[in-house]
Amino acid sequence: MKTEIIRIEDVAKDSALIEKAGAVLREGGIAAVPTETVYGLAANALDPDAVRKIFEAKGRPSDNPLIVHVADLNGVAPLVKEVDKRFYALAEKFWPGPLTVVMKKSSLVPDITSGGLDTVAVRCPSHPVANAIIRAAGVPVAAPSANTSGKPSPTTAQHVCDDMSGKIDLIVDGGKCEIGVESTVITLATEPPRLLRPGKITPEELQEFLPDLIVDSAVFSELSGTEKAQSPGMKYKHYSPEAEVVLLRGSLENTIRYVNKYGNAESVAVCFTGEKNMFDVPAVEYGLEDDGLSLASNLFYVLRKVDDLGFSRAFVRCPKPVGLGLAVYNRLLRSAAFHVVDVDKRLPVIGLTGPTGAGKSTVAQYFVKNGFYLIDGDVLAREAVRNKEVLANLAKEFGADIINEDGSLNRRLTADRAFATPEKTKALNAITHPTITALTYIEITRADRSDSKGVIIDAAALLQSPIINMCDMLVCVVAPRDERVRRIVERDGITVEQALTRINAQKPESYYIENTQYTISNAAGEDFHAKADEIIAAALK
Ligand code: TXA
Ligand code: MG
Repeated sequence: MKTEIIRIEDVAKDSALIEKAGAVLREGGIAAVPTETVYGLAANALDPDAVRKIFEAKGRPSDNPLIVHVADLNGVAPLVKEVDKRFYALAEKFWPGPLTVVMKKSSLVPDITSGGLDTVAVRCPSHPVANAIIRAAGVPVAAPSANTSGKPSPTTAQHVCDDMSGKIDLIVDGGKCEIGVESTVITLATEPPRLLRPGKITPEELQEFLPDLIVDSAVFSELSGTEKAQSPGMKYKHYSPEAEVVLLRGSLENTIRYVNKYGNAESVAVCFTGEKNMFDVPAVEYGLEDDGLSLASNLFYVLRKVDDLGFSRAFVRCPKPVGLGLAVYNRLLRSAAFHVVDVDKRLPVIGLTGPTGAGKSTVAQYFVKNGFYLIDGDVLAREAVRNKEVLANLAKEFGADIINEDGSLNRRLTADRAFATPEKTKALNAITHPTITALTYIEITRADRSDSKGVIIDAAALLQSPIINMCDMLVCVVAPRDERVRRIVERDGITVEQALTRINAQKPESYYIENTQYTISNAAGEDFHAKADEIIAAALK
């Protein structure tokens, strides 16, 4: 099929061209027309054969209903079973314009147009060219966005050409679409009414007329396989360029860090105005961070541009989901097939603890082998007591003789005194924990900048320390008592009696098990790897 392209600048001056486009629709043909939102692929909504051509040209699933466009309010009554009372006030305020309203359909609307539903979506576009063509056609006009199904919607005639050339009768070029994302869709056919698709008209604006309007959960989330879609169009992967889209939510600083770390020669950053020179990889801007209209009007343009430039992956800055930004966010979620990375989130941190001799270090090494960054509580404790202030406080608490001639700490003597009573242990912790905590924090930041997958903190006193607050997950390692005795004797060269004293000074095994989410049993001859793998998988999820 040869696709004719005509340019309409001025509805009054180009009335012959308007007539021509109207005739194509009236006679069962299909034509792409500009609207204030995106280009639509138009056909007579009441002619099943014409509507079928739309589904074919787009490759659209047949259960995804089309919006029926009318030239004015009078076009609505024949399409619906009954005009909802609330509709008049909405139309008065928002029509013509980017608001689509779903109501129960009349028998005039063919099943193919409504995707088999008993409802119909109606909209009256404000774009003068679209409006004049519908009027000229003299029939209600079904018009989905004029893109190949799944691709970003077209906001220029060139985009339509790229997808539809050779598949449709006519393309009407009316320049770039002003809003850039599709109309807001609400349904009055459910109780309470729902917002099915966000657009230029925001939920806040609508709630003035529909105080009980709720935002459908599909706006923000992926529908599970069994959930019934109120708006079938929201269930498909959608608005996607060939390139993989990754949506990055978080601060500019962390976004740059993330992109520079994971980007390569085939990646592009899609960022806000003024940011493009901040990335190591090429970047394109899609609008001002705090101006939803500027983001919306360039969104699909930029997504198509990513493919034109030959990139295979786009890292896109996430807009604030307010005002028109909500619509941009909603489209981007689908472009990215819900692949969103929270760049401000640090690596998962696992706190590993357990009674002495249970074999924490062995388990910690297994995590290291699996890509985790190890923070060793013993190492940090040793570093903490090199601090002059900490040393002075320890000397005050446990006696000046705990400081060696060379100014270092006599660790054995300090331990003897500090672990003599629970009060003394508490005093030791009060002096050392703040410094150990600060050091831990610095280590986590360091890990964040490494290639590690996560962080494992190996700390015997974890559960009594503020470090517990930095952990996303707590794990304890336990082993039978006689085995722990044997390990301690071997490791530290002490007697069985001394080992037992240490064990008895500590909290019982049950304390660790009760205060952590996972327990790894590390008895001799037992394989803890499966349990550790399970914990790693949960941490990285
Ligand atoms: O801005 C727009 O609305 C553009 C321009 C061309 O007017 N059109 C548009 O159409 O975006 P389309 O087909 O790409 O999107 C129609 C959306 C889909 O999400 C569809 O599921 C929903 O509206 N929809 C249509 N009829 C419906 C119905 N009866 N009930 C629920 N949702 C419906
Ligand atoms: Mg569409």
